[in-house]
Order: sequence, then structure tokens, then C-alpha cells
Amino acid sequence: MNDQSGVDSANLRDQTWVVTGAAGTIGTRLVADLAGRVNRLVATDLAAPDAPYGVESVAADLRDQDAVAAVLAGAHGVVHLGGIADEADLHDLAEVNLVGTYHVLEEARRAGARRVVYASSNRVTGCYPCDVTVHPSMPPRPDGLYGAVKVAAEGLCQLYADKFGLATVAVRIGSYEERPLDLRQLSTWLSPADCSRAFRAAMSATDVGYACFYAVSANTRGWWSLEPGAALGFLPQDDAEEFAATVPDAARTMRGPQGGDYAAPEYTLSRQRR
Ligand SMILES: NC(=O)c1ccc[n+]([C@@H]2O[C@H](COP(=O)([O-])OP(=O)(O)OC[C@H]3O[C@@H](n4cnc5c(N)ncnc54)[C@H](O)[C@@H]3O)[C@@H](O)[C@H]2O)c1
Repeated sequence: MNDQSGVDSANLRDQTWVVTGAAGTIGTRLVADLAGRVNRLVATDLAAPDAPYGVESVAADLRDQDAVAAVLAGAHGVVHLGGIADEADLHDLAEVNLVGTYHVLEEARRAGARRVVYASSNRVTGCYPCDVTVHPSMPPRPDGLYGAVKVAAEGLCQLYADKFGLATVAVRIGSYEERPLDLRQLSTWLSPADCSRAFRAAMSATDVGYACFYAVSANTRGWWSLEPGAALGFLPQDDAEEFAATVPDAARTMRGPQGGDYAAPEYTLSRQRR
């Protein structure tokens, strides 16, 4: 079951994978989930993360290309989670989230890696209205500068697939929480278990050149097509609706942009240096 990328879903156990952002919310959980499923797992972050037994832990700043090169030596694949995870000054987003992603893709290519799985975001399409079902093939409509930089990073992933034959998968993560916390998250929630399912599918799906899908639970009120994820083998099992009784305003219907408060001008402007 070899694909264009050379990744064989049965052979993750024979491979070396690097997880960036491994000390973060998603990275901590994902590394624990992947430990034992991958032959050699390297967890990296700004400071060396606490890692489960058998997982290597290395400090590297994504802004430092030499440091990224050193971490990626010998890797078959990279799960790239590291970066600024919300709206911020554009100069910082560009340096960490865009140039940092370039460092990961370019050093993966130079190292002979076969696949990069990129943590993109639902915020690349947060200006679509709530009554539109969004498919990854639709044009981006980011709800802020963070989303706009994620769009650019998805473009780098597409480029590295088309031009250099590096398989890349952009995973547009919903709202990763233990349980949905507000009305918006009844549509956008990604449970931790479904998050692991999404990343394992992105790592091991066959016949991948460039792919992009929404990592979101099977929410009754969901806004995004699940088909592209299903095509890669991502079949979410959880539904935010099971928690609706605990969510304030759950009886309401959300209107306006899918990004909700994130799409408000002040959310972006208040985070710029001037
Ligand atoms: N949590 C969500 O709901 C969500 C939704 C959409 C997208 N995402 C994306 O998923 C990824 C992980 O999200 P998270 O919630 O775990 O975020 P997080 O902030 O908890 O983790 C991000 C990690 O990146 C590291 N990092 C930041 N700058 C770095 C640098 N210069 N060099 C090396 N490491 C650096 C941080 O130290 C942190 O541990 C992010 O790329 C985020 O944009 C998350």
C-alpha cells in the first residue's frame, strides 16, 4: 500500500516522525497517542517538551532554520503543530507561522522526508456566513491575520507537493476542547479523540499529493464538509450536540460570520503593534 509519498499506512511503526509544537495543548495529547505507534518519535518545541517514555525530546526554535534541519534529520514525516495559535501581530505571525512553516517544509525536503502534516485552522474560512457549508475547495475567507497567514502556509504546502513531490496534508482544525464551551463550538468542536483520528489519517492515508480537510467532530450543527477527510480515512465519532444541555444559549441559532467574535475588526486591530 505505497502511495506517491512512499508512506505505507501499515509501516508507521517502521518510521521516524517529528512533532513540532509538542509541548502545546494538541501536541502533548498527540505525542502521547502516537507513542508506540511510530518506530521513532521526536517531540520538539521552543523548550524540550516533557515526553512519554521512549519519545525523544529536543528544543528548537522554528525561526532558526539550522535548528529545524537538525531536528528533521532522518525523519520520514513531520506533524507541524508549532507556532502562534491565535491572532497576533502580523510581523510575529509571519516570522513564526509562515517562515517557520517554510523552514519545516524545506528542511523536510532536504532531509528526504516523504510527508508533512500541517496544522491549519478553520479560521482560514471564518468569514463565510454560518448558513454556508464550506468545502476546502472553496476560496479562503480568513477571519483575521492569523487565518490569512494559515492560508499562505497552506499555499506553501501545495507548492511543496506540486513542485517537489513532498506529500502534504493541511488539517484545518476546528475548536479543540474537552467539550464544547459555547454556541459557536456546537458547530466547530473537535474532540481530543477525533483530533487523534484526524492526525493519524493524515499521517497514513495513501495516494496523497496535497490534501486539505477539516478536522472537526461529527457535529449535528457542523458547517464544514466532512467528505475530504473521509476520503483520507478520517471518520469522526463524537458530536458536540451531546453536550448542548451544558452550553449557554444552545437554543439559539448562530448567525453572521462563522468566526464569530474572531471575525470582529477589534479582535485583529487590538493585537497589532500599532
Ligand atoms: N487548539 C485549537 O483549537 C486549534 C484550532 C485551529 C488550529 N490550531 C493550530 O494547531 C496548532 C497547535 O495548537 P495548540 O492549541 O496546541 O497551540 P499551543 O499554543 O498550545 O501550542 C503551540 C506550541 O507551539 C510552540 N511554539 C510557538 N512558537 C514557537 C517557535 N518559534 N518555535 C518552536 N515552537 C514554537 C509553543 O511553545 C507551543 O507549545 C497550532 O498551529 C494552531 O494554530 C489549533
